[in-house]
Amino acid sequence: MFDVKKIRKDFPILNRKIHGKKLVYLDNAATSQKPKQVIQTLKDFYEKHNANIHRGVYVLSEESSQMYEDAYEKVAKFINADGMEEIVLVRNTNEAMNIVLYSWAWDNLKKGDEIITTMMEHHANIVPWQLLEKRGVKLKYVDINDNGTLRMEDYNKLITRKTRLIAVVHVSNVLGTINPIKKIGKMAHDHDAKLLVDAAQSVPHMPVDVKEINCDFLAFSGHKMLAPTGTGALFVKKEILENMQPFMRGSAMIKEVYLHEAKWNDLPWRFEAGTPNIADNIAFATAIDYLQKIGMRNVRDHEKQLTKYALKRMSEIKQLKIYGPLDTDKRGGVIAFTLGDIHPHDLSTVLDDFGIATRSGHHCAMPLHNRLKLAASTRASFYIYNTKEEIDYFIDALNKAAKVFRL
Ligand SMILES: Cc1ncc(COP(=O)(O)O)c(C=O)c1O
Repeated sequence: MFDVKKIRKDFPILNRKIHGKKLVYLDNAATSQKPKQVIQTLKDFYEKHNANIHRGVYVLSEESSQMYEDAYEKVAKFINADGMEEIVLVRNTNEAMNIVLYSWAWDNLKKGDEIITTMMEHHANIVPWQLLEKRGVKLKYVDINDNGTLRMEDYNKLITRKTRLIAVVHVSNVLGTINPIKKIGKMAHDHDAKLLVDAAQSVPHMPVDVKEINCDFLAFSGHKMLAPTGTGALFVKKEILENMQPFMRGSAMIKEVYLHEAKWNDLPWRFEAGTPNIADNIAFATAIDYLQKIGMRNVRDHEKQLTKYALKRMSEIKQLKIYGPLDTDKRGGVIAFTLGDIHPHDLSTVLDDFGIATRSGHHCAMPLHNRLKLAASTRASFYIYNTKEEIDYFIDALNKAAKVFRL
């Protein structure tokens, strides 16, 4: 049973007061809060096990190496990959995209080749590919419909024999839209192109199975799913990862080094130059245990209910405009909105006075905001510890803000 009261007890930060009010944390799309189990794992690691991995034959090093490898396996299993040989642990989704850029696209895409991405992408899934434009790779964009869904017919128009990569966000961090990535993947594969999924807003919030999607690359951030900052993962199909060259070179990622050449280490270690983020990744595994205990289906259902309730209550506020689809089967728990002509930064500041943490700005999706003819929006995003009561309080605060700004 999903018990939000019990879950909330695991998050010490939720007891904090902000400007004398109870914290209502609605910026989960940026990063999530951390349960005490994850914090305890970090403490335990440094108090009992800390040592560098794969380098010592003494007990501490063997323990930390084993814990680190277990974390890899846990991440792999969570998204149904075929073990850690299909995973690279990274600091965040941006780093994952850059590995695809420098270790795959750099060697495999040439002048005239094409990449298709979309207008609703986070900059993490746009800016890396712009580097390839400098060498003559064409970057094309699928547009959006008025309701914030992808204009699927654009794929048929944009895809050609030269398309090598289709890069798409699974769940938009602004519109909340859940994109039909399986369908998009099929189109990619029918044209011998690869599918890359930005899963930063899906893996933390719903069951995601890389085999079912049949994606070639999938990137997500651990810190958005209860793990410490500095954690994330890149999934790559093994037959592709085996043929990718590491772009970070130095120690640990090698098997043998001679004066003028080196042989790479086995997967996945060849993508980890130097000492990795050992403690945080071990705590990443604890975050996965925590989510699995709740069940990802239950996580999704809870957020869906909250989103449905929030959309209904928000739509009752005059002059409040919601961006993205209104059908909760088609969207995740991210709601971007504007309230009359109140500047989103001013609105977030007023909400902060109520102890409510929201985000305002372009949410690292400037092309999307330009497309929507918006300079900025305010965003509320939910997670497992948010409640209906918090949404009521949020709605109350929005109504009060409307009064303050005389809407
Ligand atoms: C859809 C999407 N992609 C990528 C990112 C980038 O994540 P990170 O900052 O962890 O690299 C985010 C986070 O804001 C996101 O929402």
